[in-house]
Formats: sequence, structure tokens, C-alpha cells
Amino acid sequence: MIQLKTPHEIEQMREACRISAGALAEAGKYMQPGVTTKEIDHAVHKYIVSMGAKPNFLGYAGYPGSACISINNQVIHGIPSSRVVLKEGDIVSVDTGAYYNGFNGDNAYTFAVGKISPEAEQLLKVTQECLYKAIDAARVGNRIGDIGYACQSHAEKFGYGVVRTYVGHGVGRKLHEDPEVPNYGKPGRGVRLAAGMTLAIEPMINLVGEDVVTLEDGWTVETVSGSISAHFEHSIVVTESDPIILTRI
Ligand code: MF3
Ligand code: CO
Repeated sequence: MIQLKTPHEIEQMREACRISAGALAEAGKYMQPGVTTKEIDHAVHKYIVSMGAKPNFLGYAGYPGSACISINNQVIHGIPSSRVVLKEGDIVSVDTGAYYNGFNGDNAYTFAVGKISPEAEQLLKVTQECLYKAIDAARVGNRIGDIGYACQSHAEKFGYGVVRTYVGHGVGRKLHEDPEVPNYGKPGRGVRLAAGMTLAIEPMINLVGEDVVTLEDGWTVETVSGSISAHFEHSIVVTESDPIILTRI
């Protein structure tokens, strides 16, 4: 069931989302060669707790970190590790979320470590554009399929693969709520969007191919092609006018 939020609930949820965004910005300070993904996770954890919030990924279905940190050919859900060391030219997808005052925030950003290849630059730019086009389609009068179509049509112009296996989602009192928000779709299809819907929109775009595989650790998702992949996410609210991004600092 889709839980529409009242204006008062949105105000409460803003706090959780602001802390989630702050945690992502904190992670961004660590994008240098030699830094381990464990150090980044520690910094994210410390930031969220210092804000009086709870890292909502930690312990979720047994997930062992406060952030998901996925490098290069990893798509999502990379487990922070003291053995994974950033190097020049890496792209690093960081996903952070906070629980505060009864609500969840969820957001992600793919960072560059130093100078990255022109093809990686373009993938990051286009994936972020996919996110903003998808958000712009999150309007009363549209449907879930319009969001997916906005994302997919942009990504495919560049020959990129839109990940199907994982999708965006409602977000609110729970980290994952209805409806599912695929990053692909057809205009005019699916659930009607209504004011007060809070959605985590999160394109996962592969340079080559849409297929992904989960590693034996049970979490890390990689591209089957071995190509790099990017992930950008915001928690937003559908309104009677423009959608509002809640995970801005
Ligand atoms: N941000 C992720 C999502 O959108 C959540 C991380 S998975 C977790 O689903 F299990 F670690 F929480
Ligand atoms: Co999410």
C-alpha cells in the first residue's frame, strides 16, 4: 500500500533526508587515492550518529555497513572493507541513508577519484541527468512508467544499459515502501502519481549491458559485462506543483 504523507510528515521526513544528504557529502570528502572504503563507512556512520540519527542500512537484512560503497564495475551494495583501497581513476558509488524522527532518507552519488576516463566522465554526467529527468517526470497526472521512461530513454540514447533487477522505491516510515520505481518503463503505464508520494528514485546505469550479478558475499552487485556502472539517487516528494528533492543539504 502506498503511504501518502501529510505536509507535517514531509516536514519531519526532511530532517532524515537532510542528514542522509549530509552523510553523502561527508563521504565525498574522502575521495582520494589510498583511502579505504571502511574509512569512508566509518565517517558516514560517525556523521549520522553525531546528528542524533540512525544509519538505516546497518543491520537491514543483515547488511554490515552504514554506507554501500561500490567501485567501478560494482553497481550497488558494495560492502565497506579495509582491504578495498581507492585509486586514481576509480568511480565510487556511495549510498547513504539515515533514520530520524520516525522517517528515512536515502540517497546516492557516484564520485570520481582524481582524473577519470572521458567515458567514465560521460557515464556519470548522463546517469545524473537520468536522475534529474526522472525526478522531473514525478508529477501529478503522470504515472510510474513516465518516471522510468524519462530515465531509460535518456540512457539508451548513449547506448548504456539500464539495470532492471534493482529499482527505486517508496520511502518514508520504512526505508522501502510501495510503489516500486523502475528506471525503465512506458509512458502512461503503472501507478498514478499523487501529491504526498515520497519516492527514492535511483538510476543504476551500466556503460555496457543491463545484466548484473550478485557476488558470493550475498550483497555486492556487479555488471555481467565487467563494464563500469553509475548510481545516483534522491528521495523526493510529489506535489501539486514541482517535485521537491528532500535529500539536498
Ligand atoms: N539505498 C539502498 C536502497 O535503495 C539501500 C541499501 S541496501 C541495505 O535500497 F540493505 F543496505 F540497506
Ligand atoms: Co534506495
